[in-house]
Amino acid sequence: MRVEIFCERVFVVAKFLVSGGRKLSGEVKVQGSKNSTLPILAATILCEDESVLFNCPKLSDVDASIRILRYLGCRATRSDSTLVVDTTDMKRSDIPHELMREMRSSIIFLGVLIARCGRAKLSLPGGCELGPRPIDLHLSALRQMGIEITEQHGELFCVATDGIKPSKIALSFPSVGATENIMLTAVKAKGTTIITNAAKEPEIEDLAEFLNRCGAKISGAGESTIVIEGVQKLYGCSHSIIPDRIVAATIMSAAAGTSSKVTLDGVIQNHLSAIVPVFEQAGCDISCKDGKLTIDAPYRLRSPKLIRTMPYPGFPTDAQAVVMAMTCKSSGLTVFVENIFESRYKHVDELNRLGANIKVEGKVAVVDGVRHLSGANVHSLDLRGAAALVVASLSAQGNTQISGINHLERGYDEFEVVLQSLGADVKRI
Ligand code: EPZ
Repeated sequence: MRVEIFCERVFVVAKFLVSGGRKLSGEVKVQGSKNSTLPILAATILCEDESVLFNCPKLSDVDASIRILRYLGCRATRSDSTLVVDTTDMKRSDIPHELMREMRSSIIFLGVLIARCGRAKLSLPGGCELGPRPIDLHLSALRQMGIEITEQHGELFCVATDGIKPSKIALSFPSVGATENIMLTAVKAKGTTIITNAAKEPEIEDLAEFLNRCGAKISGAGESTIVIEGVQKLYGCSHSIIPDRIVAATIMSAAAGTSSKVTLDGVIQNHLSAIVPVFEQAGCDISCKDGKLTIDAPYRLRSPKLIRTMPYPGFPTDAQAVVMAMTCKSSGLTVFVENIFESRYKHVDELNRLGANIKVEGKVAVVDGVRHLSGANVHSLDLRGAAALVVASLSAQGNTQISGINHLERGYDEFEVVLQSLGADVKRI
């Protein structure tokens, strides 16, 4: 195990050793949603007191957000999956480069700093493994809301000189982050803001539910048009984070790839409305009852034929890699079309090292199902790619060593423990 000392924090470079070819069985609890926890942690800044968040996953991206809150002068303490955040004594409105760079989605702090402090200074989030991560939709919306934004030396300087102007904002693309930043800024505007072509992801609804519990007046979250009536003050509240639908899809892929029967506890069925049909087309029996989903996979999966990623409620881009891993041994061809990010196939070369037969042409990837995968040393390059390698290694004959597990820990809470509880032979080395 390589240990790197960086600043005062120690990064342990972890690897997984997976002995594949084993069936899984049993029941697991699905963790809270990373993509709901992150914007809600930012939203606590809008309340000038204490909020309590339940079902928060233990993730490095959540830790990065907590470091930002503490830098700003807030108190944040965790006990197991409960986070208590008290933003009463917040005194800064800037986020330094090294904290911004730790997590691509830290741009979500922009709106709340402007709404609370009237100004914000943070460095541009830069790109990430998925390709450039532009924020033009965020910035044009905030400018429309009367925020003066200047970009200098990779830094954003924002000032709401005359407060936040209520506006009608038509998004050219239903960006999740932009929708969240506009909501978070508009809750304190002097009037009503309307967002059209808004993102409809469940995490947007969860954020709106948290904000309304704090005293905001938001309607239409989860639809294309969201109406935010500005209020004077927000008050901390307690809120339980929704389950992580992408982690659920990941566990389902692991079960399907190993011809297993597994039950997931804590799923919201309609959050998986575009995911479940793919597993049924592949020959799996799926049953849902009282917040539990049971998947029963056949000996060999059929190809689900065509999967194109789309904004919610379409098939989620975050599930593309793990479902691709599941189709590597299915019978027939599966065609993937990645419509959301421009380079989200970094896991393909590594899956081919395990014996898969995948070809990529631009945003299209074609998986020609093979009979067997065999263990190898592979390296993960991004969060969902890492999860895909874990899924594939479980169905490969022999041992697989997966490096770059730090990517996995951004979004999966003790994933090796989850898989071990289902009977998988996964060791962290
Ligand atoms: C959120 O990212 C999620 N992250 C992503 O999950 C997810 O893949 C994505 O939404 C799509 O569902 C969090 O919620 C923390 P977008 P976000 O703005 O907000 C382009 C994971 O694996 N775009 O909807 O960054 C952008 O380049 C992560 O958990 C602009 O062009 O996604 C991308 O191609 C990865 N200009 C597309 O829109 C902008 O101003 C979707 O981006 C903003 C986005």
